[in-house]
Amino acid sequence: MKITVPATSANIGPGFDSVGVALSKYLTIEVLGAAKRWEISHDLGDNVPTDEENLLVKTALKVEPSLAPQRIRMVSDIPLARGLGSSSSVIVAGIELANQIADLQLSAQDKLKIAVEIEGHPDNVAPAIFGNLVVASYVDGRTDHIVADFPDCDFIAFIPNYELKTSDSRDVLPETLAYKEAVAASSIANVAVAALLKGQLETAGHAIQSDKFHERYRQQLVKEFSPIKAVSQENGAYATYLSGAGPTIMTIAPRESSQAIVQQITALDLDGELAVLSVDPRGVHLS
Ligand code: HSE
Repeated sequence: MKITVPATSANIGPGFDSVGVALSKYLTIEVLGAAKRWEISHDLGDNVPTDEENLLVKTALKVEPSLAPQRIRMVSDIPLARGLGSSSSVIVAGIELANQIADLQLSAQDKLKIAVEIEGHPDNVAPAIFGNLVVASYVDGRTDHIVADFPDCDFIAFIPNYELKTSDSRDVLPETLAYKEAVAASSIANVAVAALLKGQLETAGHAIQSDKFHERYRQQLVKEFSPIKAVSQENGAYATYLSGAGPTIMTIAPRESSQAIVQQITALDLDGELAVLSVDPRGVHLS
Protein backbone atom coordinates (compact mmCIF):
# COMPACT_ATOMS: atom_id res chain seq x y z
CA MET A 1 0.00 0.00 0.00
CA LYS A 2 1.20 3.49 -0.87
CA ILE A 3 -0.10 6.76 0.59
CA THR A 4 0.61 9.92 -1.41
CA VAL A 5 0.17 13.47 -0.10
CA PRO A 6 0.73 16.70 -2.06
CA ALA A 7 2.79 19.73 -1.10
CA THR A 8 0.85 22.82 -0.11
CA SER A 9 1.30 26.55 -0.34
CA ALA A 10 -0.35 28.31 2.60
CA ASN A 11 -1.56 31.87 3.21
CA ILE A 12 -1.52 33.01 -0.46
CA GLY A 13 -0.99 36.56 0.81
CA PRO A 14 -3.72 37.66 3.22
CA GLY A 15 -5.26 34.23 3.89
CA PHE A 16 -2.99 33.92 6.92
CA ASP A 17 -3.39 30.56 8.71
CA SER A 18 -6.57 30.01 6.72
CA VAL A 19 -6.08 29.63 2.94
CA GLY A 20 -3.93 27.10 1.09
CA VAL A 21 -3.58 25.24 -2.18
CA ALA A 22 -2.33 21.73 -2.94
CA LEU A 23 0.55 21.64 -5.44
CA SER A 24 2.33 19.08 -7.61
CA LYS A 25 5.16 17.96 -5.34
CA TYR A 26 4.58 14.81 -3.32
CA LEU A 27 5.37 12.75 -0.24
CA THR A 28 4.82 9.03 -0.75
CA ILE A 29 4.99 6.43 1.97
CA GLU A 30 5.00 2.76 1.11
CA VAL A 31 3.95 0.28 3.78
CA LEU A 32 6.21 -2.74 3.35
CA GLY A 33 4.78 -4.93 6.13
CA ALA A 34 4.64 -5.55 9.87
CA ALA A 35 7.89 -5.47 11.82
CA LYS A 36 9.19 -5.85 15.38
CA ARG A 37 9.77 -2.10 15.67
CA TRP A 38 8.95 0.89 13.53
CA GLU A 39 11.50 1.25 10.70
CA ILE A 40 11.30 4.22 8.35
CA SER A 41 13.77 4.21 5.47
CA HIS A 42 14.29 7.50 3.64
CA ASP A 43 16.96 9.74 2.16
CA LEU A 44 15.72 12.94 3.75
CA GLY A 45 18.84 13.52 5.82
CA ASP A 46 20.17 12.65 9.30
CA ASN A 47 17.76 14.99 11.08
CA VAL A 48 14.72 12.93 10.09
CA PRO A 49 14.33 9.98 12.50
CA THR A 50 14.08 6.43 11.17
CA ASP A 51 12.19 5.01 14.18
CA GLU A 52 9.08 5.78 16.25
CA GLU A 53 10.42 9.33 16.71
CA ASN A 54 9.56 10.05 13.07
CA LEU A 55 6.62 12.50 12.83
CA LEU A 56 4.79 10.00 10.62
CA VAL A 57 4.81 7.35 13.35
CA LYS A 58 4.18 9.83 16.17
CA THR A 59 1.09 11.05 14.32
CA ALA A 60 -0.17 7.56 13.49
CA LEU A 61 0.24 6.49 17.14
CA LYS A 62 -1.55 9.61 18.34
CA VAL A 63 -4.51 8.59 16.18
CA GLU A 64 -4.33 4.89 17.15
CA PRO A 65 -1.96 4.11 20.06
CA SER A 66 -2.28 0.33 19.61
CA LEU A 67 -1.01 0.36 16.02
CA ALA A 68 1.39 -2.52 15.24
CA PRO A 69 4.89 -1.43 14.11
CA GLN A 70 5.53 -1.38 10.36
CA ARG A 71 8.41 -1.17 7.91
CA ILE A 72 7.90 1.92 5.76
CA ARG A 73 9.69 3.56 2.87
CA MET A 74 9.32 7.34 2.76
CA VAL A 75 10.07 9.29 -0.43
CA SER A 76 9.48 13.02 -0.78
CA ASP A 77 10.34 15.80 -3.19
CA ILE A 78 8.77 18.38 -0.84
CA PRO A 79 11.78 20.23 0.60
CA LEU A 80 11.95 20.53 4.40
CA ALA A 81 11.36 23.85 6.18
CA ARG A 82 10.84 25.79 2.95
CA GLY A 83 7.16 26.80 3.24
CA LEU A 84 5.74 24.01 1.09
CA GLY A 85 3.98 22.04 3.81
CA SER A 86 6.48 19.21 4.28
CA SER A 87 5.53 18.54 7.91
CA SER A 88 1.81 18.82 7.16
CA SER A 89 2.23 16.24 4.40
CA VAL A 90 3.80 13.87 6.96
CA ILE A 91 1.01 14.53 9.49
CA VAL A 92 -1.67 13.82 6.88
CA ALA A 93 0.18 10.66 5.79
CA GLY A 94 0.41 9.53 9.45
CA ILE A 95 -3.33 9.98 9.96
CA GLU A 96 -4.02 8.01 6.77
CA LEU A 97 -1.55 5.32 7.83
CA ALA A 98 -3.44 4.79 11.11
CA ASN A 99 -6.74 4.97 9.25
CA GLN A 100 -5.71 2.23 6.84
CA ILE A 101 -3.84 -0.13 9.15
CA ALA A 102 -6.42 0.01 11.95
CA ASP A 103 -9.37 0.31 9.54
CA LEU A 104 -10.72 3.36 11.37
CA GLN A 105 -13.05 4.45 8.54
CA LEU A 106 -12.18 8.11 9.08
CA SER A 107 -14.02 10.61 6.88
CA ALA A 108 -12.11 13.49 5.30
CA GLN A 109 -13.74 15.77 7.90
CA ASP A 110 -12.44 13.49 10.70
CA LYS A 111 -8.94 13.61 9.19
CA LEU A 112 -9.10 17.39 9.03
CA LYS A 113 -10.18 17.67 12.66
CA ILE A 114 -7.28 15.46 13.83
CA ALA A 115 -4.75 17.21 11.57
CA VAL A 116 -5.77 20.70 12.69
CA GLU A 117 -5.54 19.72 16.35
CA ILE A 118 -1.97 18.54 15.74
CA GLU A 119 -0.85 21.37 13.42
CA GLY A 120 -2.76 24.24 15.07
CA HIS A 121 -4.00 25.81 11.83
CA PRO A 122 -5.68 24.35 8.76
CA ASP A 123 -3.99 26.19 5.87
CA ASN A 124 -1.52 23.39 4.97
CA VAL A 125 -3.25 20.26 6.25
CA ALA A 126 -6.64 21.04 4.66
CA PRO A 127 -5.41 21.20 1.04
CA ALA A 128 -3.10 18.24 1.73
CA ILE A 129 -6.27 16.27 2.59
CA PHE A 130 -8.72 17.64 0.01
CA GLY A 131 -6.51 18.87 -2.85
CA ASN A 132 -7.28 22.13 -4.72
CA LEU A 133 -7.84 25.45 -2.94
CA VAL A 134 -9.14 25.25 0.62
CA VAL A 135 -10.39 28.17 2.71
CA ALA A 136 -10.73 27.12 6.34
CA SER A 137 -11.03 28.41 9.88
CA TYR A 138 -10.14 26.81 13.20
CA VAL A 139 -11.51 28.93 16.02
CA ASP A 140 -12.63 27.85 19.52
CA GLY A 141 -12.12 24.22 18.62
CA ARG A 142 -14.40 24.34 15.59
CA THR A 143 -13.12 23.75 12.04
CA ASP A 144 -15.00 24.89 8.95
CA HIS A 145 -13.73 24.57 5.42
CA ILE A 146 -14.62 25.18 1.79
CA VAL A 147 -12.87 23.36 -1.07
CA ALA A 148 -12.82 25.08 -4.47
CA ASP A 149 -11.00 24.91 -7.78
CA PHE A 150 -8.06 27.29 -8.10
CA PRO A 151 -8.32 29.42 -11.26
CA ASP A 152 -6.13 28.24 -14.14
CA CYS A 153 -2.54 29.51 -13.76
CA ASP A 154 1.03 28.38 -13.15
CA PHE A 155 2.74 28.45 -9.76
CA ILE A 156 6.40 29.42 -10.13
CA ALA A 157 8.20 28.45 -6.94
CA PHE A 158 11.65 29.77 -6.11
CA ILE A 159 12.89 27.56 -3.28
CA PRO A 160 15.97 29.15 -1.62
CA ASN A 161 18.85 26.94 -0.57
CA TYR A 162 18.29 27.62 3.13
CA GLU A 163 15.67 26.67 5.69
CA LEU A 164 13.40 29.08 7.53
CA LYS A 165 11.71 27.60 10.57
CA THR A 166 8.03 28.49 10.95
CA SER A 167 8.71 29.47 14.58
CA ASP A 168 11.42 31.96 13.49
CA SER A 169 9.15 33.35 10.80
CA ARG A 170 6.31 33.73 13.31
CA ASP A 171 8.62 35.45 15.80
CA VAL A 172 8.87 38.56 13.58
CA LEU A 173 5.08 39.06 13.61
CA PRO A 174 3.52 41.66 15.93
CA GLU A 175 1.59 40.56 19.03
CA THR A 176 -1.38 42.74 18.15
CA LEU A 177 -2.88 44.58 15.19
CA ALA A 178 -4.82 47.81 15.72
CA TYR A 179 -8.58 47.44 15.18
CA LYS A 180 -8.65 49.71 12.10
CA GLU A 181 -5.70 47.88 10.60
CA ALA A 182 -7.33 44.49 11.25
CA VAL A 183 -10.52 45.61 9.52
CA ALA A 184 -8.51 46.76 6.49
CA ALA A 185 -6.45 43.54 6.48
CA SER A 186 -9.62 41.48 6.64
CA SER A 187 -11.26 43.40 3.78
CA ILE A 188 -8.21 42.66 1.62
CA ALA A 189 -8.38 38.96 2.55
CA ASN A 190 -12.10 38.86 1.75
CA VAL A 191 -11.48 40.29 -1.72
CA ALA A 192 -8.58 37.89 -2.34
CA VAL A 193 -10.73 34.86 -1.53
CA ALA A 194 -13.82 36.10 -3.40
CA ALA A 195 -11.72 36.90 -6.48
CA LEU A 196 -10.09 33.45 -6.40
CA LEU A 197 -13.50 31.80 -6.15
CA LYS A 198 -14.75 33.86 -9.12
CA GLY A 199 -11.61 33.16 -11.18
CA GLN A 200 -10.67 36.85 -11.28
CA LEU A 201 -6.91 36.51 -10.96
CA GLU A 202 -6.04 40.15 -11.71
CA THR A 203 -8.14 41.30 -8.74
CA ALA A 204 -6.97 38.38 -6.62
CA GLY A 205 -3.33 39.19 -7.46
CA HIS A 206 -3.66 42.78 -6.29
CA ALA A 207 -5.26 41.70 -3.02
CA ILE A 208 -2.66 38.95 -2.49
CA GLN A 209 0.13 41.52 -2.78
CA SER A 210 -1.66 43.94 -0.43
CA ASP A 211 -1.61 41.63 2.61
CA LYS A 212 -1.40 43.40 5.97
CA PHE A 213 -1.21 40.38 8.28
CA HIS A 214 2.29 39.00 7.80
CA GLU A 215 4.04 39.58 4.45
CA ARG A 216 5.57 42.98 5.26
CA TYR A 217 7.19 41.62 8.43
CA ARG A 218 8.50 38.48 6.82
CA GLN A 219 9.67 39.65 3.40
CA GLN A 220 12.77 41.13 5.05
CA LEU A 221 13.81 37.60 6.09
CA VAL A 222 13.96 36.49 2.45
CA LYS A 223 16.35 38.67 0.47
CA GLU A 224 15.38 37.07 -2.85
CA PHE A 225 11.76 38.27 -2.50
CA SER A 226 12.03 41.82 -3.92
CA PRO A 227 14.03 41.03 -7.07
CA ILE A 228 11.79 38.06 -7.89
CA LYS A 229 8.63 40.11 -7.36
CA ALA A 230 10.01 42.90 -9.56
CA VAL A 231 10.88 40.70 -12.57
CA SER A 232 7.65 38.74 -12.19
CA GLN A 233 5.55 41.91 -12.25
CA GLU A 234 7.44 43.16 -15.33
CA ASN A 235 6.63 39.90 -17.11
CA GLY A 236 2.91 39.65 -16.49
CA ALA A 237 2.57 37.81 -13.15
CA TYR A 238 -0.66 38.09 -11.18
CA ALA A 239 1.13 38.10 -7.81
CA THR A 240 4.23 37.11 -5.87
CA TYR A 241 3.84 36.00 -2.24
CA LEU A 242 5.73 34.12 0.46
CA SER A 243 4.59 30.51 0.46
CA GLY A 244 3.51 29.64 4.01
CA ALA A 245 6.07 30.93 6.47
CA GLY A 246 8.68 31.10 3.67
CA PRO A 247 11.35 31.09 2.45
CA THR A 248 9.82 29.80 -0.80
CA ILE A 249 8.73 32.68 -3.00
CA MET A 250 5.65 31.85 -5.05
CA THR A 251 4.59 33.66 -8.19
CA ILE A 252 1.23 32.97 -9.78
CA ALA A 253 1.10 33.80 -13.46
CA PRO A 254 -0.85 33.17 -16.65
CA ARG A 255 0.53 29.99 -18.25
CA GLU A 256 1.67 31.96 -21.31
CA SER A 257 3.83 34.24 -19.12
CA SER A 258 5.53 31.64 -16.98
CA GLN A 259 8.35 30.79 -19.39
CA ALA A 260 9.46 34.43 -19.56
CA ILE A 261 9.20 34.76 -15.77
CA VAL A 262 11.28 31.63 -15.25
CA GLN A 263 13.93 33.00 -17.64
CA GLN A 264 14.06 36.31 -15.80
CA ILE A 265 14.27 34.70 -12.37
CA THR A 266 16.99 32.36 -13.64
CA ALA A 267 18.91 35.40 -14.93
CA LEU A 268 18.98 36.79 -11.37
CA ASP A 269 21.38 33.92 -10.58
CA LEU A 270 20.03 33.33 -7.07
CA ASP A 271 20.96 30.36 -4.91
CA GLY A 272 17.98 28.04 -5.03
CA GLU A 273 15.73 25.79 -7.09
CA LEU A 274 13.07 26.97 -9.50
CA ALA A 275 10.01 24.79 -10.14
CA VAL A 276 6.84 25.40 -12.15
CA LEU A 277 4.04 23.67 -10.26
CA SER A 278 0.37 23.08 -10.90
CA VAL A 279 -2.62 22.53 -8.62
CA ASP A 280 -3.05 19.02 -7.23
CA PRO A 281 -6.76 18.19 -7.42
CA ARG A 282 -6.74 14.97 -5.37
CA GLY A 283 -5.16 15.54 -1.97
CA VAL A 284 -4.17 12.47 0.06
CA HIS A 285 -4.80 9.24 -1.83
CA LEU A 286 -3.96 5.55 -1.83
CA SER A 287 -2.50 3.33 -4.48
N1 HSE B 1 0.19 29.95 8.18
C1 HSE B 1 1.44 29.47 8.68
C2 HSE B 1 2.39 30.64 8.80
C3 HSE B 1 1.99 28.48 7.69
O1 HSE B 1 2.42 31.45 7.88
O2 HSE B 1 3.09 30.76 9.80
C4 HSE B 1 3.17 27.75 8.19
O3 HSE B 1 2.83 26.78 9.14
